Amino acid sequence: MSGRRARIVGCGSALPRRVVDNAAMAETVETSDAWIVQRTGIRQRHIAGEGEKTSDLAIAASRAALARAGVEAEALDLVVLATTTPDNTFPATATRVQAALGMTRGCAFDIQAVCSGFVYALAMADNMLRLGQADRALVIGSETFTRILDWEDRGTCVLFGDGAGAVVLEATASNGATVERGILSTHLRSDGRLHDALYVDGGVSSTGTIGHVRMNGKDVFKHAVNNMAEAVLTAIETNDLTVEDIDWLVPHQANSRIIEALCRRLNFPIERVVVTVDRHANTSAASVPLALDEAVRDGRIEAGQLVLMEAMGGGFTWGSVLARW
Ligand code: ACO
Repeated sequence: MSGRRARIVGCGSALPRRVVDNAAMAETVETSDAWIVQRTGIRQRHIAGEGEKTSDLAIAASRAALARAGVEAEALDLVVLATTTPDNTFPATATRVQAALGMTRGCAFDIQAVCSGFVYALAMADNMLRLGQADRALVIGSETFTRILDWEDRGTCVLFGDGAGAVVLEATASNGATVERGILSTHLRSDGRLHDALYVDGGVSSTGTIGHVRMNGKDVFKHAVNNMAEAVLTAIETNDLTVEDIDWLVPHQANSRIIEALCRRLNFPIERVVVTVDRHANTSAASVPLALDEAVRDGRIEAGQLVLMEAMGGGFTWGSVLARW
């Protein structure tokens, strides 16, 4: 292993101004606040306004993360942006962010792993920083996911929202000490056989249309709990830790019932889990960095603590990132 480690030195997030609660959803589709809250824990979601793009949210979250890190955009040499809802089929939305921030060196690219996107992006950036291919990265999860919803399908349209979260990642030299701050491990997994449980029924090379989200909710629920538990346990075991050692779990925010089932499976106390799904709904690749930013800003996550991020999404894809804050 190289003598470098990557550390998160600043977080930021951005949400569209428009908030739609469950009562408003019940005016457009046959549902109710009681059904949505009982099945998912979701009470409201933010929905991008007309003309508000994934890059707009990503740029706002990135500026906030850079400001909190005290880092100028010129000091960045890598942008990795996770999204399922890019501004355009090409170029990568990351390059729009790069240009808007005034960063002219290094490289910028998108990653597509749906709800696991941010975990994948963080793992890629961590690898590049540790290998010395970059020194300072911006890692973003940004979505206008509501643009690919079928607003007549009550089984999916109530579940998702829009938003963005970003972190600044900096390479630091390892001094060989056993307790060091930074990303300790990343684990990524996928299983393409389960493609049909959660997918979009459109795309450039299949239909030439954008398409809409299609989901087998029960299948997704079952695999989500299994895969997220595997991602958490792999991180814990690889680092010779126990569940008790983890200070904060920052899970993908799909559904509070999935999070509660995961906690029961792992015997993990719900008090040490960051939950935002009630207010943000499922923002896909943005969900983990949005939750992370909230817990860092309100002081729950403190220097020296162990923070375990995990996610699972379409593909299926899943994974985890363990960091000492
Ligand atoms: N409002 C009211 N009724 C609804 C709604 C709604 N929004 N949606 C579905 N129903 C109805 C169904 O039509 C069905 O009616 P029926 O019995 O008359 O046929 C009934 O509610 C039960 O439907 P189920 O699909 O069996 O409901 P279930 O208990 O499985 O809950 C849910 C559905 C919430 C989607 C659940 O399966 C789930 O949480 N799955 C995980 C999905 C998820 O989180 N996906 C996010 C992407 S993947 C990820 O991020 C990890």
